[in-house]
Amino acid sequence: MAEQESLEFGKADFVLMDTVSMPEFMANLRLRFEKGRIYTFIGEVVVSVNPYKSLNIYGRDTIEQYKGRELYERPPHLFAIADAAYKAMKRRSKDTCIVISGESGAGKTEASKYIMQYIAAITNPSQRAEIERVKNMLLKSNCVLEAFGNAKTNRNDNSSRFGKYMDINFDFKGDPIGGHINNYLLEKSRVIVQQPGERSFHSFYQLLQGGSDQMLRSLHLQKSLSSYSYIHVGAQLKSSINDAAEFKVVADAMKVIGFKPEEIQTAYKILAAILHLGNLKFVVDGDTTLIEDGKLVSIIAELLSTKTDMVEKALLYRTVATGRDIIDKQHTEQEASYGRDAFAKAIYERLFCWIVSRINDIIAVKNSDTTIHGKNTVIGVLDIYGFEIFDNNSFEQFCINYCNEKLQQLFIQLVLKQEQEEYQREGIPWKHIDYFNNQIIVDLVEQQHKGIIAILDDACMNVGKVTDEMFLEALNSKLGKHGHFSSRKLCASDKILEFDRDFRIRHYAGDVVYSVVGFIDKNKDTLFQDFKRLMYNSSNPVLKNMWPEGKLSITEVTKRPLTAATLFKNSMIALVDNLASKEPYYVRCIKPNDMKSPQIFDDERCRHQVEYLGLLENVRVRRAGFAFRQTYEKFLHRYKMISEFTWPNHDLPSDKEAVKKLVEYCGFQDDVAYGKTKIFIRTPRTLFTLEELRAQMLVRIVLFLQKVWRGTLARMRYKRTRAALTIIRYYRRYKVKSYIHEVARRFHGIKTMRDYGKHVQWPTPPKVLHRFEEVLQAIFNRWRASQLIKTIPASDLPQVRAKVAAVEMLKGQRADLGLQRAWEGNYLASKPDTPQTSGTFVPVANELKRKDKYMNVLFSCHVRKVNRFSKVEDRAIFVTDRHLYKMDPTKQYKVMKTIPLYNLTGLSVSNGKDQLVVFHTKDNKDLIVCLFSKQPTHESRIGELVGVLVNHFKRIIHLEGRQGDGKEAVTVIWVRCYESVDSGVEIRVKEADLKEIKRLKPELVRGTLSNHNGARDGAGQGFESLLTLQEHDGLNTTPQQIGSLVMMFCSHIMIWPLRANEGPQKRLNLLSQKLFLKLNGSHPPYPECHSSPKIPPTQRSSPITRAGRIHIAHPVVDAP
Ligand SMILES: Nc1ncnc2c1ncn2[C@@H]1O[C@H](COP(=O)(O)OP(=O)(O)OP(=O)(O)O)[C@@H](O)[C@H]1O
Ligand SMILES: [Mg+2]
Repeated sequence: MAEQESLEFGKADFVLMDTVSMPEFMANLRLRFEKGRIYTFIGEVVVSVNPYKSLNIYGRDTIEQYKGRELYERPPHLFAIADAAYKAMKRRSKDTCIVISGESGAGKTEASKYIMQYIAAITNPSQRAEIERVKNMLLKSNCVLEAFGNAKTNRNDNSSRFGKYMDINFDFKGDPIGGHINNYLLEKSRVIVQQPGERSFHSFYQLLQGGSDQMLRSLHLQKSLSSYSYIHVGAQLKSSINDAAEFKVVADAMKVIGFKPEEIQTAYKILAAILHLGNLKFVVDGDTTLIEDGKLVSIIAELLSTKTDMVEKALLYRTVATGRDIIDKQHTEQEASYGRDAFAKAIYERLFCWIVSRINDIIAVKNSDTTIHGKNTVIGVLDIYGFEIFDNNSFEQFCINYCNEKLQQLFIQLVLKQEQEEYQREGIPWKHIDYFNNQIIVDLVEQQHKGIIAILDDACMNVGKVTDEMFLEALNSKLGKHGHFSSRKLCASDKILEFDRDFRIRHYAGDVVYSVVGFIDKNKDTLFQDFKRLMYNSSNPVLKNMWPEGKLSITEVTKRPLTAATLFKNSMIALVDNLASKEPYYVRCIKPNDMKSPQIFDDERCRHQVEYLGLLENVRVRRAGFAFRQTYEKFLHRYKMISEFTWPNHDLPSDKEAVKKLVEYCGFQDDVAYGKTKIFIRTPRTLFTLEELRAQMLVRIVLFLQKVWRGTLARMRYKRTRAALTIIRYYRRYKVKSYIHEVARRFHGIKTMRDYGKHVQWPTPPKVLHRFEEVLQAIFNRWRASQLIKTIPASDLPQVRAKVAAVEMLKGQRADLGLQRAWEGNYLASKPDTPQTSGTFVPVANELKRKDKYMNVLFSCHVRKVNRFSKVEDRAIFVTDRHLYKMDPTKQYKVMKTIPLYNLTGLSVSNGKDQLVVFHTKDNKDLIVCLFSKQPTHESRIGELVGVLVNHFKRIIHLEGRQGDGKEAVTVIWVRCYESVDSGVEIRVKEADLKEIKRLKPELVRGTLSNHNGARDGAGQGFESLLTLQEHDGLNTTPQQIGSLVMMFCSHIMIWPLRANEGPQKRLNLLSQKLFLKLNGSHPPYPECHSSPKIPPTQRSSPITRAGRIHIAHPVVDAP
């Protein structure tokens, strides 16, 4: 509303006038015209006054202001009406049409172009290429049609000389997808003759002024307009038209629309041929008629792609079939001239119709399927020639003015008559408003048997020579009493009318005097068959296509064609029926003066137009009437969501009651009337408010529907997922079950198998059972091992363990591990090995047992050692579960060196046949020796030594971990123990934690805690302090007790954090160990050694190179 004009510009809607009177109407119209406000509403009708100057009111900004707005929101404008028609079409899927009427030069064509531009501008927001193409064609087609169908007349420099009704088709989204143009009766007589001050169709002038020299040469044309008799009348006329520029615009438009080059060329050739035809003169030589300038004939033949003699023959002769004979009848000069002119008019008309049909082919709606794209709706725009009165009015003006009568009748029918009748029918109190109904004039022209057209047709049908005067006579006798018809004969005193030539029709828009001259010929519209055949036989396919009826042979009898007037009448009736079936919107154009001046508002001329257009009656009906009506059912259907009484369904006795309730709910009861079947709404604003309320509610309804639908979708998805999960669950269960069944089947009777199921192949487990399979296989392997071990005598078990350990360590590293023989271990005490000296060794061993309290002898053997002078010396090594001794066999096995076993950090052996072994020690005083056997010589004992030692060390628990937080935190650095009870245990903890250990399990810590080399061992590993509980400190701990001790720590160590670089496998192993400890309350009998305190590389790499020739491959045993 903010955009509304102020009152200084007059009233924007004539309905708002204080009194409905002609003076006030005219005063308002004039005021607005003078203020540059050329548009004014009468309700939904736009009255437009031709400004005769360009106004800046059609730009993008203005379009944006009107886009999607309601009629009353913005000042009157063509765009408002276009938007209303578009919205009605989109909202209600109704076909609409915009009827633009007014007399010639009132601005109809301009208005229709602005409307088209507006529709093009507001559609296709998604910029779809196809829609853009269609829009472009629709806009461009105007300029081509105007070039060929418009001409300068005395009333209008760009007067439409044909009627145009264009349908624009829209898809369900409201985007234009195509269109169709209906053209009505082209004023083709203009091709051969124009009244003074007028011109022929623009196309001729454009070609001559705009065509290139080369093109004109090829068409045998010259630029001078006055050289051509068909157009020389208007040749010198000055006007604003720039033909040369227009020529290019039209040629480009034709290209864009999709005319092929040869088609455009053919159009030019036809224009040229017509111009040449006009210059063709006939002379009479005795009885024969001849063509004056034969050269012209050959030019025409060339342009029409036919033969010269055939053109000549068609111009001079007429082929007549009498019975079976075919004779060529020569034309008189007059006949020949008539034939030439008829030919020129006909080919121009054909060209025009062909252009329309080509445009229609191109803009036709393609690939539209109503099932997919929904109903496609239409907006029709009618721009037809306006009512016109010339000095000399002929058949064409008669048709044009009849057409305007029809359109006025339609307006009366829809706006004045039907509307009033409907109020009466519906029982709405109504005071009838009088108006002039022009039906009587329409009947005068078109009535069957009695109308002017019927009388004209009768005259044309008569055999023999019928003259135009005879036709006028027939009119006089038949229509003498008609109030709207007169002639000189009927009214002798009327000097304006000429005897035997003129008749007058009192049209709704004024009296028009028509001259009957040419009526008969123009109505018959005779074109000799010879010309049709000539054109059909043209070698130019485009031309040939325009003349399909030339195909008929001479002897074929054709039905008498309908006359021009009847054809036109039929097309008008069809047009009016078509318009009546759509929702009409009107633009009523007024021409302010005859001088094409932007300043002059000729009161008299304008008042006349206002009168005959019935605008005042229009205002009266509009003021008293209602802007909108709808059946109760449809009204409810559209607006029921607005009130709770009607949504979703009402429970009132009738729809009418429900509508009343709805209207009262909105507070519009004073602005409506209730008819028998329809509700009538007086002001558009009420309707728009209803629309707005509806639009607001629609959002909620849409949201509601979305909500419900989303819920449904989610439930469906949920059900599907749940079903899928159930299926997956059952399937998994099935897979697991079938796996277990399969395992059970394969391992059935395993106890009785010789290899206890070793050969049985495990079935592939489903993914979820991979871990299970590992555990199961471990159980199986353990069981199988236990079955196998069962058969081994207890005394052999240590040896078997040692051999297993040796294999684990050295498999693939050394050729001979000595597995085949029995491992005696204590070779120094055995007779075969040391026949003479065993006696000496045994007491030494016993003495050491007493002194060093060892329990078992692990290994003893003679060895050889290379001393620093590279001298080989015989030595012996003696390994107990406590110490490693180096002895001198030559001196009764005197102990030369004692290394506590816990000082042993590793063993290195070579992979060759030699029996070199390096004992790495913590103090870096490695012992390097070669095992050496006397009996049998070179017996390989490396395997045995490694196996025995590894087996021994395997019984050491070694755990490592750290507790994360808390005061009671105890950090276990590592725990080391030996299997033998008296071997002691080492538990390394942080010094700060010692108190805690004492507090928790004082009974376990019976011994003293002593600092044992802590500083040195921990230095490289970031330990604060290392403490070792040692057997020699008096701690006597069984493995079970150790287990409890570790358990105690573990219960504190809920998480078993590992160093960042320790992999998941290690984490798992440690966790499983922890779990095991927790479940059993004791540590596993022989937990695997998972990690060892890292020995720095410098310590690990032995100085074996000092041993000279022997190369050590790599250390193979890492003992803690
Ligand atoms: N809105 C307008 N703005 C500026 N000039 C206009 C406008 N409307 C019409 N005119 C001027 O008036 C001339 C005649 O207008 P137009 O050709 O639309 O008349 P018409 O009603 O179609 O006449 P006809 O019945 O002869 O075809 C235009 O060439 C233009 O110069
Ligand atoms: Mg026009």
